[in-house]
Amino acid sequence: MNKLNTEFEKKTPTSKRLMEDAKKVMPGGVTANIKSFDPYPVVMKKGSGAYLTDVDDNQYIDYLLSYGSLMLGHGHPNIIQAIQEQLENNGTFLFGTPHALEVEMGKRIQKYYPSMEMIRYTNSGTEATLLAIRMAYAYTEKYKIAKFEGHYHGGYNQVLISVNPPVAEAGSSDAPKAIVESKGVEPSQVENTIILPFNNLDACADILKKNQHEIAAVMLEPVQAGFIPGEEEFMKGLREITEDLGILLIFDEVKTGFRMGIGGAQSLYHIKPDITTLGKVIGGGFPIGIIGGKKEIMMVSAPLTASDVFDQSTSGKSSAKDVLFHSGTYNGHPTILSVGMAVLDVLEQEMDQVLSRTEQLKEGILQLFATRGISMQTIGVGSIFNIVITEKKHVHNYRDLQQCNFSLRKEIDFHLLAEGIYTKPLNRYSLSTAHGQKEIDYTLEAFERVLFKKM
Ligand SMILES: Cc1ncc(COP(=O)(O)O)c(C=O)c1O
Repeated sequence: MNKLNTEFEKKTPTSKRLMEDAKKVMPGGVTANIKSFDPYPVVMKKGSGAYLTDVDDNQYIDYLLSYGSLMLGHGHPNIIQAIQEQLENNGTFLFGTPHALEVEMGKRIQKYYPSMEMIRYTNSGTEATLLAIRMAYAYTEKYKIAKFEGHYHGGYNQVLISVNPPVAEAGSSDAPKAIVESKGVEPSQVENTIILPFNNLDACADILKKNQHEIAAVMLEPVQAGFIPGEEEFMKGLREITEDLGILLIFDEVKTGFRMGIGGAQSLYHIKPDITTLGKVIGGGFPIGIIGGKKEIMMVSAPLTASDVFDQSTSGKSSAKDVLFHSGTYNGHPTILSVGMAVLDVLEQEMDQVLSRTEQLKEGILQLFATRGISMQTIGVGSIFNIVITEKKHVHNYRDLQQCNFSLRKEIDFHLLAEGIYTKPLNRYSLSTAHGQKEIDYTLEAFERVLFKKM
């Protein structure tokens, strides 16, 4: 056991015990692989505003915010009120029929994301990107997608490819190889996913031209992993190339939506993707995904002319295969849409403050590292950033990121955990409306203690 773990384990004995128990119930003790870290993850028991409290009663300022979802922090009173009102007014949790809020919320989304001319609701970001791919296949009648090395779109077969590949195995930076990231992925999925290098327009153009007749869509995180922005020229070029080649452009804004600004990355870049996926923030901590795009594309899922898979009658309509089937018992869940409305109400008032506090924190951290003589950058746009310890002037993509000093960053992160600053080691920092001046000041003091006294 190294020194770092001793400090961590001294503060978190109950987490250690509970995680040992958890391993008897769930593989690895977790129900999402991403929540696991060595020596064991911290087990939390309470959240309030910007704070989390663990099972040993340690308090933390939360910068993970459930992987960016909780943009209003923990337990925001407006969200609690929205839930109570929805339950009281509607008298049920779920209608199992269309309801008015689906349209009301849809119109509000379209105000901020005009490219989403028609929308559908799903229950997670994963489901939204999965549906985006099927929409692209259905519309173009081509059956491959191109995605970028280092970009994450959810935990299913076709996109669990080249998210975090070993560089030594991943081929040249101009033509990255497709590397499987999980057991159980069928080889055919690898063949159907073409990998592109982020922020390298010439290389992307070559790959896309070569595979033009097979690629239905390019899907990307417009800001890689929520913090490495696509360069403006690159993004504009990618839009033009995909348009010219008859390939759809999918912006996966599950992370960036409502966080780069209310209108997401597309409003910053002034780019209209063909399809957009949203999730996380708009659910305020509850499961949701939204997919939307050009009307002519989205209409492939309209059950207007074809019967659906479960339709036994031969109602004069053509068969199920003529329409893209999309369903889900909980799609457009009224409680979650009420929460989403409350989230938008608060963000409309407080977004600017979150953005300026994020800048203040980034600047403060940057200065502390500079004074300590450690080369690093606080890379990010909007209300998310990451601390990247590197001598490099520019970090453009996955390959650049692999050259940064992860072990020093991890050491700092464990010291920060002991100081009451929470993010999963090596993860991003996301801010919320609950992160006020007091929390920013405390965080910078904690960084100062770690950088100047503990290291
Ligand atoms: C860009 C992106 N797409 C999709 C997903 C998957 O969303 P979910 O975890 O809600 O299924 C995530 C989750 O982190 C994401 O960051």
